[in-house]
Amino acid sequence: MKILVTGGLGFIGSHTVVELQNEGFEVIAIDNLSNSSIDVLDGIERITGKKPLFENIDLRDKSAVQNFFSKHQDISGVIHFAASKAVGESVENPLLYYENNINSLVYLLQELQRKPEAHFIFSSSCTVYGQAEKMPITENAPIQVAMSPYGNTKQIGEEIITDVAKVTSINSILLRYFNPIGAHPSAEIGELPLGVPQNLVPFITQTAIGLREKLSVFGSDYPTFDGTAIRDYIHVVDLAKAHVIALQRLLKKQNSEKVEIFNLGTGTGSSVLEVINAFEKVSNQKLNYQIVGRREGDVIEAYANTDKANAILGWKAQYSLEEALSSAWQWEQKIRNK
Ligand code: UD1
Repeated sequence: MKILVTGGLGFIGSHTVVELQNEGFEVIAIDNLSNSSIDVLDGIERITGKKPLFENIDLRDKSAVQNFFSKHQDISGVIHFAASKAVGESVENPLLYYENNINSLVYLLQELQRKPEAHFIFSSSCTVYGQAEKMPITENAPIQVAMSPYGNTKQIGEEIITDVAKVTSINSILLRYFNPIGAHPSAEIGELPLGVPQNLVPFITQTAIGLREKLSVFGSDYPTFDGTAIRDYIHVVDLAKAHVIALQRLLKKQNSEKVEIFNLGTGTGSSVLEVINAFEKVSNQKLNYQIVGRREGDVIEAYANTDKANAILGWKAQYSLEEALSSAWQWEQKIRNK
């Protein structure tokens, strides 16, 4: 079966391509290389023994999307990762985010709705919950007004898919990720942030390798046990595996609704200081960091209730925080010492 993975050379996309190929799917990856490297294809090949088919397509180009689908009529399912994801950049340049994250989605769905049946997995985010009232967060927690255009594109994306699924043959699963980190245990693929990383773990590994002088810990006055903010950090390989399971559920028509929603996290919250301590342990070195003020837009805590994914998808995160940080560190060392 041929599966289209948009953003297939990106961080989560590339790990998902690996897991799909491991399960025997034929993968065609689309990417515009705006935040990824063509070399990722070689990394995937070194892990799986096979290079996926690849096309350099920008999904904002409607006629390119149309041409792609008329050329590849045998696509059985789509996993849609291609999107911009930097919160700060989305505040600076909202139209870039609305164009990139929303137009692309609309063009894809326009092609898929022509099919007698279509299976669509969407990258959503725990950002839709904002600061949830109750921890851990279940899928029924209310959606909050988005704090950034990026977050808004995830909410709007979910709404678009839900509206479209009602009146078309599209079946969809929306996966709400908590904080994806880590790299493939082979260190052949991992995260490749452009410029200064905004996310915690790439900033930690770049500081440890000497690319950044020190990590700023944003806020130590949060109402948490050690004052720093709490997140649910999930290994990207666990996340990738969940995508394959969700896709198989759609392909086998096991879904009970046209649109199903699952949280993907570990179920455990870790504070920023806990992440730093765990990193120091696995890397066997001290990290240079200082506490600074809070970062605007950050929530105090967010960790997942994963009961629904555990029960219905039969999926549970397997890797520990230490394993995830260790794989991120192996990857950082590998790419810098090339
Ligand atoms: C953010 C977005 C999330 C998005 C994800 C994409 C929000 C609130 N969160 O997650 O929607 O899907 O990025 O990757 O919009 N931290 C530091 N120092 C740093 C960097 C981060 O202390 O240099 C702290 C943050 O304050 C936060 C934690 O580390 O408490 C995690 O931050 P980050 O990795 O940026 O992820 P989120 O903000 O949770």
